[in-house]
Amino acid sequence: MSSLFSPIKVGEMALANRIVMAPLTRNRAIDGQVPGPLTVEYYRQRATAGLIISEASQISPMAQGYLDTPGIHTAEQIAGWRKVTDAVHAEGGRIVIQLWHVGRISHSSLLPGGAAPVSSTNRRPNAQTFTRDGFVPVSAPRALRDDELPALVADYRRATRNAIEAGFDGIEVHAANSYLLDQFLRDSVNDRSGAYGGSIPNRARLLLEVMAAVADEIGAGRCGVRISPMTTFSDTPRDSDPQALFNYVVEQLAPLGLAYLHVIEGETGGARYPEGIPAFDYAALHQRFPGAWMINNGYSFVEGMEAVALGKADLVAFGRPFISNPDLVRRLRENAPLNELRVDKLYGGGAEGYTDYPVLLD
Ligand code: PHB
Repeated sequence: MSSLFSPIKVGEMALANRIVMAPLTRNRAIDGQVPGPLTVEYYRQRATAGLIISEASQISPMAQGYLDTPGIHTAEQIAGWRKVTDAVHAEGGRIVIQLWHVGRISHSSLLPGGAAPVSSTNRRPNAQTFTRDGFVPVSAPRALRDDELPALVADYRRATRNAIEAGFDGIEVHAANSYLLDQFLRDSVNDRSGAYGGSIPNRARLLLEVMAAVADEIGAGRCGVRISPMTTFSDTPRDSDPQALFNYVVEQLAPLGLAYLHVIEGETGGARYPEGIPAFDYAALHQRFPGAWMINNGYSFVEGMEAVALGKADLVAFGRPFISNPDLVRRLRENAPLNELRVDKLYGGGAEGYTDYPVLLD
């Protein structure tokens, strides 16, 4: 029977265990959105994870939505990430980069020339983002024209090429949490006409084009994708029929041969089965997907062990426990107590609450 500690081959990636470090925004890329020495140390410390998924990283200047998040579109950023991947590999770990475009969850002060954020729609959500001036309401977005979408797909492709150059084992496309690709998927946001709006196949088109492009660039066996069918993160209502939408998306992704699918179950950082709404059937998605199945959202160690043992998942992603426990894998294996998370040090700042969490002594 498999456990969280069993090795697994995920696409082309051989992982030492099934404990995944979830992507976690830390806002410490203070200089040109380049990951610096502290970030190298932070990921190095956590390299015993079976797989690290990097913090979400913008694929272009227009893709940024929060202060000091790292990018993967300049030579300096590639060089900064190269130091991260070298450090993780030196410790025997594996790391993929999460490719991010925030779409309308942004503010003009973060974008080139004070541009408006871009999205599937002109409608602004009642959401906030973090800028030089602290938390502010997001700026009104501009709906991308269909003829701008090939350049957007090309940005994902270029970011993937950059990720290869930076030494990553693979990439994960962020199609969750109401960011750009999710803004195209959901009929609660996407109010377009034409080839990218209306029907489910039209709303799924951009994501499927992006996945085909990145898989062509790096090989499908080094690509994952993250979805969150039921979240309402960033004031974004659910799709009117999330089951039909995501059944279709996964059916269309299946023949690509992707390494894994990463699903956030329920409300991001909240209930996996929110009360008062019909339960989403995640097993129906799992059944449609031939690659590795990664689950996420507040799983305890015991729940994660059970999910893997029962074949409900191949991989379990842990977020906050990895922030405060660099040696989480060892602590779980030895049933050791976990460090307390310093919530006030999650976003921005320096080493405190980032690289200074203690590990177990031998
Ligand atoms: C965040 O920066 O708050 C953030 C980033 C990516 C996510 C969710 C939250 O998927």
